[in-house]
Amino acid sequence: MQRLAPALRQDNVPLDLISLIKTILAATKEISFRVSQAHLGGLMGSTLDENIQGEVQKKLDVVANELFKDILLESGFVRAISSEEEDTSVAGDQNGKFVVSFDPLDGSSNIDINSLIGTIFSIHEAIPDMDAEDPGQFQQQGNKQVCAGYVLYGPSTMLVMTTGSGTHFYVLDRTHGGYLLVERNVQVPKDTQEFAINMSNQRFWQEPMQNYINDLVAGDTGPRGKNFNMRWIAAMVGDIHRVLTRGGIFTYPADSKKPEQPYKLRLMYEANPMSFLIEQAGGLAMTSTGRIMDIDPTDIHQRVEVIMGSSNEVEACLSYYK
Ligand code: AHG
Ligand code: MN
Ligand code: MN
Repeated sequence: MQRLAPALRQDNVPLDLISLIKTILAATKEISFRVSQAHLGGLMGSTLDENIQGEVQKKLDVVANELFKDILLESGFVRAISSEEEDTSVAGDQNGKFVVSFDPLDGSSNIDINSLIGTIFSIHEAIPDMDAEDPGQFQQQGNKQVCAGYVLYGPSTMLVMTTGSGTHFYVLDRTHGGYLLVERNVQVPKDTQEFAINMSNQRFWQEPMQNYINDLVAGDTGPRGKNFNMRWIAAMVGDIHRVLTRGGIFTYPADSKKPEQPYKLRLMYEANPMSFLIEQAGGLAMTSTGRIMDIDPTDIHQRVEVIMGSSNEVEACLSYYK
């Protein structure tokens, strides 16, 4: 099996980006270790703090964020970072060529039940001559990402990454301490009979999503004429990994549960990187009105509607909005 750096060189990834990716992966190896220690390291449960989005921070959210932030800011490759767990962007090295957005631990509610969690990251080139302190660095569309990926701390620690030449799977080999390429150019099947949505929000969805899901649930007695299965891991990393592996549609649609907050998932460090991975694997990554990666970001913590996965199924869902 091929090691990471040769695999990236084969895709003509520039050397400075390879160095940054290696830096990111060093942090994920440390997070993977801390996650595996769990109770033994005193890392279960919550802190007494909330992040800027009003969510209670788990101890592992904070540890993962500090590890990721420190290693990136010390690397010299990074002009600035933004993170789910940081109020604003944080300046790095003015000569750094890249900016990195990340969700240090996705699926935090799974930490205490020893279930799937992961780290999501998105890399853009820094805007030339823009100050490292300027959050405007992050006002770049998802289609300008030069790399995106996640690390899943599952039964095996897996890296799923794209630099724009397909989406590839890697597994952390603890015998030599590096990631090995296990599957090149993953393809999301165009059709599926599996959907992922938090059904408990059903009464808060808009009518098109209510109608679409009703037709999926009706199975072979409804207009779709086939049965659908449902899965919900409550960690986007886990749900998207399943979609990349065997197809499916994943959605977190608009809802009216909290009228001031119609969407749940965050554009910069959840929706955009996952969209890049899904599109590079032949899937679609949309809102009900357009492509996620074409959105002009205005805030590092902005939220967005997400409908992504198997292309024919995403189209089928969107047809209900027309
Ligand atoms: P995070 O743990 O980083 O805050 O993200 C959780 C997100 C996402 O991973 C997942 O798909 C979704 O929230 C789960 O939402 P529900 O709590 O509604 O199931
Ligand atoms: Mn998340
Ligand atoms: Mn998180």
